[in-house]
Amino acid sequence: MSLRSVDTSSLPKDFIWGAGTSSMQIEGGHASGDRGRCIWDSLGEVPGAIRDGSGANHRGVEHVEMLETDLNIMKELSLDSYRFSISWPRVQPGGSGVFNEKGMAFYDRLIDGLLERNIQPNLTLYHWDLPQELQSIGGWTNPEVVTLFGDYCAKMSARYGDRVKYWAILNEPWCVAWLGNLTGEHAPGIKDLPTAVRVAHQLVRAHAQGSQAVKSQSPHVLVGAVNNLTNPILIGDATPENLRDLEIVDGYKNRWWMQGMYEGKYPADLVEIFERKTGIFCDENEIGDVSDGRDWIGLNYYNADVFKGGGTGVSLFPGTTSLDGAGYGVERTEMGWSWTPDGIKETLIQISKNYPNIPIFVSENGTCYNDGPSADGKIYDTKREEYLTQYITACVEAQKSGVNLKGYYLWSLLDNFEWAWGFEMRFGLVYVDFKNKMQRTLKESALAYKDLIRSFRN
Ligand code: FCB
Repeated sequence: MSLRSVDTSSLPKDFIWGAGTSSMQIEGGHASGDRGRCIWDSLGEVPGAIRDGSGANHRGVEHVEMLETDLNIMKELSLDSYRFSISWPRVQPGGSGVFNEKGMAFYDRLIDGLLERNIQPNLTLYHWDLPQELQSIGGWTNPEVVTLFGDYCAKMSARYGDRVKYWAILNEPWCVAWLGNLTGEHAPGIKDLPTAVRVAHQLVRAHAQGSQAVKSQSPHVLVGAVNNLTNPILIGDATPENLRDLEIVDGYKNRWWMQGMYEGKYPADLVEIFERKTGIFCDENEIGDVSDGRDWIGLNYYNADVFKGGGTGVSLFPGTTSLDGAGYGVERTEMGWSWTPDGIKETLIQISKNYPNIPIFVSENGTCYNDGPSADGKIYDTKREEYLTQYITACVEAQKSGVNLKGYYLWSLLDNFEWAWGFEMRFGLVYVDFKNKMQRTLKESALAYKDLIRSFRN
């Protein structure tokens, strides 16, 4: 089977086909003075923090300069919607006080350009580029930063709420808390459990406050959260210890965020682990009113979290005592990630069971294969196409089995800055020649995705 031949006829007629990016990964701008410094600019200056050494002052893929080109590509691909994020330090360089009109005007141009092409904007307010000045006062551990974030959200909502219907407050807060503050592989590069716990708590509060702020200015828009939820898989013996650890992983990846953001409460097992390990009690009474931020659910899904027994616990999941990381099946992407298409289906079904009345979007799914142009100039990224075929088929099956799935956003529109990997890892539907004027070429997978969208409409 190929991507073009996936049978999408069972999906609702208003199903949304999209693609996504984020500000830090494509825009650039700190070097040219167009925006304030963010925590990823700072991490980029730490030797070895970004694998290809491209961290400091990179230009993204010059999306700001090439906006018209990129909008035209989206049109050419027949996208219904484009998911992007606002760079907080572009619109408010220091994260508090004065806003930057030039930065805000850029997103006006982007949004208007989308609407002119009949493409729905789907806007994320925080995709990891915290203004550096806010990190200097403790970053997301500091409740004052949550308050400032609320002010920024209100301002953005007042500015764009007339034209943008779908709003996400945070992208993958699990990564922000745990990769940013426990393993330190993401910005701000901290390795400290108490810090990570504080951040995990304040981010849940930030979702509540951010959604209240957005709705205060634009009551009619639809607000949700985007999380990298997962289906933990155990390979090997289902011993009581292994099963208990698996449940803890589920707590870290799924329950903390979904219960926190959509129900305003915390899972008791995680609260207990955090208190035992750090002395910090996360009080769910501090979350605040979450009712403004649960109009939709965004699922980012790439692969399952896979474990085997016989280990001593996984350091990324403090409190686990018997697991070890593992791979699944034979296929690996160039990131080393297993293919687990059944997992996206299972995760969608699980979310839908827990939250039957809330519409769900796959807000990110895609894969890394680093194919470049062949002699004929074309980019034959056949593994990407195969991967997408399996995952999109699984999404269709989930919808058929009753999941209220409203749309699918492919990650990513463009090859881009893949965080700690720099520009080495290509997730794009569109190839970007980083060495030659950032020239864009549609990969074969992009052409297949376009045909899939067009045949769905006809
Ligand atoms: C997700 C991020 C996104 C991108 C993909 C590959 O975790 O949200 O920015 O890096 O992974």
